[in-house]
Amino acid sequence: MDMFVVQGGRPLAGTVRVSGSKNATLPIMAAALAADGETTLENVPDLVDVRTLSKLLQSLGVAVQHDPSGRMTLRPEDDGSSTADYHLVRQMRASVCVLGPLLARRGHACVSLPGGCNIGHRPIDLHLKGLAALGAEIEVRGGYVHAVAKRLRGAQIYLGGVNGSTVTGTCNVMSAAALAEGTTVITAAACEPEVVALARFLNAMGARITGEGTPRIEIEGVQRITGTKFQIIPDRVEAATLLIAAAITGGSLTLEQVWPDHLTAVIEVLKEMGCSIDSAAKETLTLKVERPLRPVDLTALPYPGVPTDVQAQLMALACTLPGASVIRDMVFPDRFMHVSELCRMGAQIRQQGSMAIVNGVPQLTGAHVMASDLRASAALVLAGLAADGETTIRRIYHLDRGYEQLEAKLEALGADVTRVNERAAGLQLRHVDDSEVAEPKKKSA
Ligand code: EPZ
Repeated sequence: MDMFVVQGGRPLAGTVRVSGSKNATLPIMAAALAADGETTLENVPDLVDVRTLSKLLQSLGVAVQHDPSGRMTLRPEDDGSSTADYHLVRQMRASVCVLGPLLARRGHACVSLPGGCNIGHRPIDLHLKGLAALGAEIEVRGGYVHAVAKRLRGAQIYLGGVNGSTVTGTCNVMSAAALAEGTTVITAAACEPEVVALARFLNAMGARITGEGTPRIEIEGVQRITGTKFQIIPDRVEAATLLIAAAITGGSLTLEQVWPDHLTAVIEVLKEMGCSIDSAAKETLTLKVERPLRPVDLTALPYPGVPTDVQAQLMALACTLPGASVIRDMVFPDRFMHVSELCRMGAQIRQQGSMAIVNGVPQLTGAHVMASDLRASAALVLAGLAADGETTIRRIYHLDRGYEQLEAKLEALGADVTRVNERAAGLQLRHVDDSEVAEPKKKSA
């Protein structure tokens, strides 16, 4: 397994281009299977999650080619298997995005329930509620969702849940409704830019969707959609992560190929902390740290609020700011796996339920830490960039799921981040089993 070795204390400086959005790419790739003919996508990031979904789509009869330039072609060839196997779906929860397109195109789908993950409970009840409203017969059996629909029919669907709407649930219902008979209205729809991107992709294929980006989306069903050419939007979460990398090291950064409109809440928080940020030229953002930064009180909310996918990274930054910061996550209330690892680096964080109180410290210290999920890994890298000394971050495969060449981008900005294979470095953790654990001495009677 790979790990990162980070030497901290080097302010970042320079310019870096943001990659295509993982969370826009995945539902768009899935929707391509419902089209007649070939789709060509540009600016597709080379990520583990993209490769996993490519394998899944190939198992579902879609020919997928992804070249180093970021161009991906997807060509549905046969409607053979409609079963999304557990061994692929467990690697990536977003595989559930094939459910809607399979139902729309083939009238049946068998998709493994996504596994749990480290950011908390991840039900799909709203996905299934929406698809059932469109006329699908849904049965959950043996860890799989079995769905059948001779013909999907338009419906009025409310997609609000206890933690707000559902991003991939809105994507699934929108993709299915695009080929349903009649009109569908989704209320309490997710407003994330990735949902908007999917709607625009579906419309480019001939769908008739309006209202995307608002809580009310209207979809007028059509008979067929055809393959198209489409550009993937920049990854707003990667952009936020890189901005925070500059902030936490007291450096400066210019991002290229970024859409500032997708980052308004993050920009606001960084400005509140005292960062200077401006988006002078088109699709660029510049951040400078010109004064000591201040603590912050923030809550991760559905878009356009502070993204839950940036909460861990902002917490790493807050650990270095003098004073008390308050961080809440209303989308994934349990998304705090990064807290204990940050504390190993000297952070002072007290978590109570869906809230954490961070008392900033003058200096984090390098340590051996373990990544637990995609965005927690990013938070540990950021903390390592600011820490005094060396930080090793194990299980970096979590990071490779959602960041394209992050270490190369950080190195280009002056960071000292090296990817090391644990075995090669003779650092693999020795498996300690019970027999090696000393028995407590029994007290003499
Ligand atoms: C998407 O996940 C993103 N993933 C996540 O990014 C992101 O954190 C999340 O949206 C929220 O913005 C992709 O787009 C591939 P949700 P998704 O359904 O769609 C509850 C990353 O790091 N809920 O919007 O799975 C759910 O438990 C990943 O890139 C239900 O109750 O998230 C959560 O509390 C992590 N029932 C809230 O809604 C449902 O049927 C939001 O979940 C579905 C969700």
